[in-house]
Amino acid sequence: MIEPLRRAAIFLVLTINPDLASEAAVRSICGDLTKLVRAVGFRDPDAQLSCVLGIGSDAWDRLFGNPRPAELHAFQEIVAGPRHAVSTPGDLIFHIRGEREDLCFELETQIMMRLGDAVSTADEVAGFRYFDNRDLLGFVDGTENPVDEEAMNAVFIGDEDPLFAGGSYVIVQKYLHNLAAWNALPVETQEKIVGRTKMSDVELDDSVKPTSAHNALTTIVENGVEKKIYRANGVFGNPGKGEFGTYFIGYARSPRVIEQMLHNMFVGRPPGNYDRLLDVSRAATGTLFFAPSLTMLETLAARAAATAVAPEDPVESSLAPASAKDGSLGIGSLKGLDRDE
Ligand code: HEM
Repeated sequence: MIEPLRRAAIFLVLTINPDLASEAAVRSICGDLTKLVRAVGFRDPDAQLSCVLGIGSDAWDRLFGNPRPAELHAFQEIVAGPRHAVSTPGDLIFHIRGEREDLCFELETQIMMRLGDAVSTADEVAGFRYFDNRDLLGFVDGTENPVDEEAMNAVFIGDEDPLFAGGSYVIVQKYLHNLAAWNALPVETQEKIVGRTKMSDVELDDSVKPTSAHNALTTIVENGVEKKIYRANGVFGNPGKGEFGTYFIGYARSPRVIEQMLHNMFVGRPPGNYDRLLDVSRAATGTLFFAPSLTMLETLAARAAATAVAPEDPVESSLAPASAKDGSLGIGSLKGLDRDE
């Protein structure tokens, strides 16, 4: 989940078709994802191919039943005047990253060949690196991401939900920008909207930075401690269609942190003091997922396979993990997960 920003990324959001065979197909890829990434990525290890799979709230119930990650729920829409953080369908997200577009493309192809008729595509975006990690508004994006220990603390669930330790929550939103309107603003105004200088990417001094600046509204301090998230935004667009966008993807050990940032951006802190990026940006999607570590995914898939029962017993078959009945996932086998996944 915590990967340096790569040259290429694919954000693939799928819904699972409403039948037991489709659910079984999805469970089966959960167990094989690591192998699939290894098979494609081995062709060029320098390309650092990786894939995170996130599972939506309804999908979790269908695939694995109880127990479930404590804070997993559907994305909550926000409406504030003309600003709207929409909530859109999505049972699964595959977040593929690497230094080569062709390997990302190949992995996505293999995933879709495996899933076949079991899924429908809700959204599919191919992102690319734009100059020195700039977004299409021209600002460097990702500078203040936490690193090392701080990133692990921000992203991975710990003792607060021990069965799901090592996993993370993921929120995505596909933003479309009105680039003509943005480019018509003086650079100094743009800098006050973002809270950093455009060319040199230096944070504005508090004496000149407005409280509505993007980096002010997304700074959350609780009990004197700053709550961080890890962002891996993707740049995408189709200039021929006038489409220019930022695919926001944020990882956090609690979705509350990202939700608070969104509230500040859309409603404002205080209300009305909203993020002016939203005057030139519209959220076209919004979905929340839980991303287990790859090891946890394999364990879940193995338990699902071990307890699979005849399709005519839908209740039993949706309670996938064998140990769900005693309220445990067999924590021993979920411990010691590779936190660098
Ligand atoms: C229109 C879409 C967005 C664009 C173009 C955008 C762009 C940026 C840029 C240029 C920065 C400053 C450089 C950096 O530290 O990365 C930044 C910072 C940040 N953004 Fe966004 N962002 C967008 C949406 C979001 C959303 C939806 C969230 C969270 C809900 C978010 C959270 C943050 C955070 C936490 C920071 C770092 C603040 C700090 O500690 O200084 N951004 N963003």
